[in-house]
Amino acid sequence: MALILTTKTLPAAAAARPAAECLAAGGLVAFPTETVYGLGADGTNGEAIARLYEAKGRPSFNPLIAHVPTLEAAKHVAIFNEIALKLARAFWPGPLTLVLPKAHGCPVASLATAGLDTVAVRIPAHPVAQAILQALGAPIVAPSANRSGHVSPTTAAHVRHDLDGRIDMIVDGGPVSVGLESTIVGCIGAPTLLRPGGAPRADIEAVLGVTLGRIETAPGHDSPLAPGMLESHYAPKAAVRLAATTLDTNEALLAFGAPLPGARPERMLNLSPRGDLIEAAANLFGHLRALDETGAQTIAVMPIPAHGLGEAINDRLRRAAADRPA
Ligand code: TXA
Ligand code: MG
Repeated sequence: MALILTTKTLPAAAAARPAAECLAAGGLVAFPTETVYGLGADGTNGEAIARLYEAKGRPSFNPLIAHVPTLEAAKHVAIFNEIALKLARAFWPGPLTLVLPKAHGCPVASLATAGLDTVAVRIPAHPVAQAILQALGAPIVAPSANRSGHVSPTTAAHVRHDLDGRIDMIVDGGPVSVGLESTIVGCIGAPTLLRPGGAPRADIEAVLGVTLGRIETAPGHDSPLAPGMLESHYAPKAAVRLAATTLDTNEALLAFGAPLPGARPERMLNLSPRGDLIEAAANLFGHLRALDETGAQTIAVMPIPAHGLGEAINDRLRRAAADRPA
């Protein structure tokens, strides 16, 4: 059993102290960020990071995001050019990750950066994440706190379901607010969208005044720049059928707006009855998990608009729908 601390009864700072002590001793701590729950390890401790990969059941050592509390701390980890500084000032703390050249003397263990000379860095906005980072005083590397191949956790219960018995502590800060992982922008050369996420592309482009390049991954293949972008990374057990405009008997329905006719109430969840993409993002992973647990063979998903957070929602749904090895 992982020790569970809850901020329902403990203030964030009080929960942060034991969490930071556990991390400093090489432990693995799941904690809330505004995007999804992360599974944290002390970013300077290679052995703890190795145990983190083992706990997640990662097929390979995908590079991890280094979380830091301030821009000053970020500058010890990575080298910021003008574009990166602009983005950091506009979006941090918040759901944006920057891939940058490693700083000289970067304290993040090379296992966490998969031996690359670049590093992914982010300042999370969640008060619990902030409090733990302040208390530890070192970068925390944290992938989403799910078993490899599962959808990302948006509640502490999801974390317990996937990782209980494999990690040391779970800090329960309630359901997250954004519900999608951070947007990842590469700032090596021209700024590039490596992963759509909680910060909409249009907002980033508005700050920079340029269009972001986009790295597309071929089905079934990793991108060399973002090796974590496996096509079937966000996979429920059920098959996923996208852009459904009709519903077959026995299919579960993931609705958006007014649901398709014929859905059985016990097999239907609505991302946003009023068609709101922010609400839909916050519900996406929880609803996918819950529909998967109904045992339905197929989850039919209604069309989701492509603008705003719709880009990231559709990206995750395409990955969930991609064919995958049994
Ligand atoms: O919202 C989030 O980003 C959450 C919370 C916990 O912060 N974290 C998260 O981590 O989604 P993870 O490990 O599930 O996804 C990190 C992604 C992976 O696709 C990885 O390949 C990519 O970041 N990445 C990390 N370092 C990179 C680098 N140096 N170059 C390119 N991609 C990198
Ligand atoms: Mg993940």
